[in-house]
Amino acid sequence: MCGIVGYIGEKTAQDVLITELKRLEYRGYDSAGIMTLSPQHSATLLRAKGKVSALVDIASAHTTTDTMGIGHTRWATHGAPSERNAHPHQVGNIYVVHNGIIENYQELKTMLAYHDYTFKSDTDTEVLTALIDYMYRETHDTLAAVTAALKMVVGAYGIAVVHTDNPDEIIVARKGSPLIVGLGEGETYIASDASALVGYTKQVVYLHDGEIGRCTKSGLTLQTIQSKAVDVHVETLEMDLQAIQKQGFDHFLLKEIFDQPRTVQATLAGRVIPDQGYARLGGINLSDDQLRAIKHVMIVGCGTAYFAGMQASYFIEQMTDDVTVSVEIASELRYRSYNIPDHTVALIVSQSGETADTLACLMELKRRGVLCLGVVNAVGSTIAREVDSGVYVHVGAEISVASTKAFTSQVAAMTIFGVMLAAAKGSSPQLISEFVNELGALPGEIKNVLDTQNQHIQSVAQQYASYDHALYIGRDTLYPAAMEGALKLKEVSYIHAEAYAAGELKHGPIALIDDRFFEICYLQDNWLYEKSQSNLIEMNARGAHAIVITDTIKDIPAETMVRITTKFEHLTPLLFNVVSQLFAYYMALARGNDVDQPRNLAKSVTVE
Ligand code: G6P
Repeated sequence: MCGIVGYIGEKTAQDVLITELKRLEYRGYDSAGIMTLSPQHSATLLRAKGKVSALVDIASAHTTTDTMGIGHTRWATHGAPSERNAHPHQVGNIYVVHNGIIENYQELKTMLAYHDYTFKSDTDTEVLTALIDYMYRETHDTLAAVTAALKMVVGAYGIAVVHTDNPDEIIVARKGSPLIVGLGEGETYIASDASALVGYTKQVVYLHDGEIGRCTKSGLTLQTIQSKAVDVHVETLEMDLQAIQKQGFDHFLLKEIFDQPRTVQATLAGRVIPDQGYARLGGINLSDDQLRAIKHVMIVGCGTAYFAGMQASYFIEQMTDDVTVSVEIASELRYRSYNIPDHTVALIVSQSGETADTLACLMELKRRGVLCLGVVNAVGSTIAREVDSGVYVHVGAEISVASTKAFTSQVAAMTIFGVMLAAAKGSSPQLISEFVNELGALPGEIKNVLDTQNQHIQSVAQQYASYDHALYIGRDTLYPAAMEGALKLKEVSYIHAEAYAAGELKHGPIALIDDRFFEICYLQDNWLYEKSQSNLIEMNARGAHAIVITDTIKDIPAETMVRITTKFEHLTPLLFNVVSQLFAYYMALARGNDVDQPRNLAKSVTVE
């Protein structure tokens, strides 16, 4: 949720830390802070409520030439957003930045209070800082003090720690919250997310859970919490600067929506060859016999990843006869007492690969012996490492908090999995080849929607931007699309939006229709067209302000139409979804919202 950064080298640390923080701001953005340390042991601590820009204002009045320091951008868990609660936290000579949650912080606080510690903030991080300070009294070594403190901690953390006596080192540790160290020439970088390191270095080390490291100008040494030395495994960061820039778009959200023809292509590359009827995910190493044996697919995710699972579940069910599919919200599944059918395979879906609830489900499913396959975007992330095998969706950095390109590619990847299952199980070759062909054509079809609809959707949004409520209605494969559309709208426009299966309209939501509502109706020209059209007519009869998103050329009674042209029969919801992505974007813009960093949200939810 929050972002951690650090630097030790020859450059001006303030500049590096602030650049890194700006890159991580999408992860959390209610307060920010940096601490730098001079060779003469003098620390400068700067913190501000609000976005990194508020910190930049403060830093410009307090410039230092220090060449080491740590920083943080926060999304509040313990304690309201305020300067007092912002990181880095300081106790004595110890400074700490922390992502995650210390679950037993109350207990530790009581113990520390007994040893005369007092606290200035409401945070668990300050308690951890005090605990490290307390341990330092015994150990007189920061690494040893951090190790001793973490042995007493229950919870999740990624931390960077500085002691003012030691301007030559930053101590880092991780458990359940990502931490990456970037190695340069005579300099070392720290970040909780690879995007902060882009342009500085390509040589990176992903810490594993339970590892503690000492970062100096000349590199990194690692050990476990039990003080056993660990080899440093250096990997190459594939991300480039372009991936984290807006490239001429006003917002990352719009850039990422327009990125989709390219990113879907990246998901399909080498995996789908329509001419040869080929669709296979190389990362999922299952023989046809193993695929044939699968009877149940359990898809697990949160937020947009969950809706991607819903969308894909319809496609997988359409393609197969003897496979059931369940789609689970990770934060519910993890506390439920559920039965797992024999021959189940789980698809663990996550853009960030760090979502705490999804990760917890993965660990539990593994414990119960279920084969877990990842559908992940962030390379090297925890979920990507923990799954039995899996695929990356390869959409690159997704910076906008509202997820768009990841959704489309998650659905595409899971649809390929559906094709693999269907082919192994001997489903209709005709149907399989229709899906394969549509997957291959998806980048072009999305481009067509973007090229032909962008302007129109912008003007539609202007017309509806002052409404307070929205109902999204879809039937069959369009129901998940409606759910994802409603989520997008509420995330960025703050308009109350609900999605309903079209057939449920009469069971409640139709009572809501009035002049404060508009309705988005997804209407595909297929075997269910007449039924869905009747729902629209029923709504119109009650004074609906309906916007119909459709691929039909037939006349439709609706206040507003968004008509796309496509040859698709199966993947049409993904095209309608591009329309609702654009619609949400322009609605947010028209209402003057912060499109890329909507209030109260965070990109990566690493706490429960
Ligand atoms: C947060 C993000 C959403 C995302 C969800 C799941 O709520 O704001 O955009 O869909 O987490 O994240 P994941 O990284 O697991 O896909």
